[in-house]
Amino acid sequence: MRVLSVVGARPNFMKLAPVDRELVRRGVDHVIVHTGQHYDPGMSAAFFEELWIPAPDYDLGVGSGSHAQQTATVMQRLEPAIVELRPDLVLTYGDVNSTVAAALVAAKLQVRVAHVEAGLRSGDWTMPEEINRVVTDRLSDLLFLPSRDAAENLAAEGIAADRMHFVGNVMIDTLCWALPQALAVDAPGRFDVRARPYVVVTLHRPTNVDDPAVLRELLEALTRLADHVPVLFPVHPRTRGRIRELRLRLTTEPGLRLLEPLGYLDMLSLVANAGLVVTDSGGLQEETSFLGVPCLTVRPNTDRPITCTHGTNRLVQAQRDAILAAAERGLSRRSPARPVIERWDGHAAERIARVVCDGERFELDGASAERLMPRRAVAIPQPLGAA
Ligand code: UD1
Repeated sequence: MRVLSVVGARPNFMKLAPVDRELVRRGVDHVIVHTGQHYDPGMSAAFFEELWIPAPDYDLGVGSGSHAQQTATVMQRLEPAIVELRPDLVLTYGDVNSTVAAALVAAKLQVRVAHVEAGLRSGDWTMPEEINRVVTDRLSDLLFLPSRDAAENLAAEGIAADRMHFVGNVMIDTLCWALPQALAVDAPGRFDVRARPYVVVTLHRPTNVDDPAVLRELLEALTRLADHVPVLFPVHPRTRGRIRELRLRLTTEPGLRLLEPLGYLDMLSLVANAGLVVTDSGGLQEETSFLGVPCLTVRPNTDRPITCTHGTNRLVQAQRDAILAAAERGLSRRSPARPVIERWDGHAAERIARVVCDGERFELDGASAERLMPRRAVAIPQPLGAA
């Protein structure tokens, strides 16, 4: 059997890693295509190395551009590869432009499409990711759901239940795999924040960083927060560009520290030990929920509502005083009991491989009959410097 995975942007790589391992273990001819949507070494190659993903078989070198340019270029460059390889299945991941482009090409070539992380919805059509998610799911033969709420979203769009497989969250597979290594790299020690609770920040959504007034407001909030606790902010290239355009003179060290994008292990090491995470990333909402670290998501909505209902996530407006008040509450909130979310158990990729290779089904109500590979227990750290 030949399966072709298409990935392009940073959050795709964490999802690909465990799926690749499981498919290869079962003897699948797994071809990896990197579209090149993300191309900086720190946004791409570093993740392949740290997550033990083999070098891509194809690199389409698409790079940055408008949405139409990026999507169209992926389509143009991917089509010949799919025609040449004739895979039995094309696997797509997440919700980036590379995801929808791959689904469109494969579906039009009559190749079966699968979507890892299907069914998530924010209901917010101003987000490009929402359009990518809806179109990709509509075109997919196999839908791999990370959480139960995804099934309701898909059913509401008229998608038949027999295409859905409730496999769980592949991001958590990668987290479980990497956590022992991440704790060993001791990023808090290297960044000299071991002594007391600290805050980790990521912001890159166009709604937060492309409007200068909003970005100023957010940076003002972070600067104020950094008067009280160390704030570590690995800055996405999009955000760095916007900060540069603002010509802001940020009073940074020692409080607010703007860093280059971090690799997966350093980031996980920092997040696992943080007192609070402030973000607009989807993946971090999930990772903090699994780890039991309080998270503030600077967005009016989320496509991962389960992280608010069952996890540690809270939504907050992009407004200085709202963020400062929520941060104060969040910093005092970390509890030793960490949330348990159904099928966020390190076995999602194994379930995906069993569907792909053995034609198994993972129904929404079928948890009991599962026979899963044993996994090491994951030890979650207690917050550093907490009383
Ligand atoms: C993309 C995804 C978003 C995801 C995010 C994770 C879409 C529509 N958006 O957003 O869902 O959360 O990735 O990071 O697919 N740049 C570099 N080097 C790189 C990549 C980007 O400098 O390696 C800069 C370029 O100036 C580029 C800008 O970042 O124009 C934005 O990159 P792009 O891939 O268009 O979108 P992201 O904001 O990264």
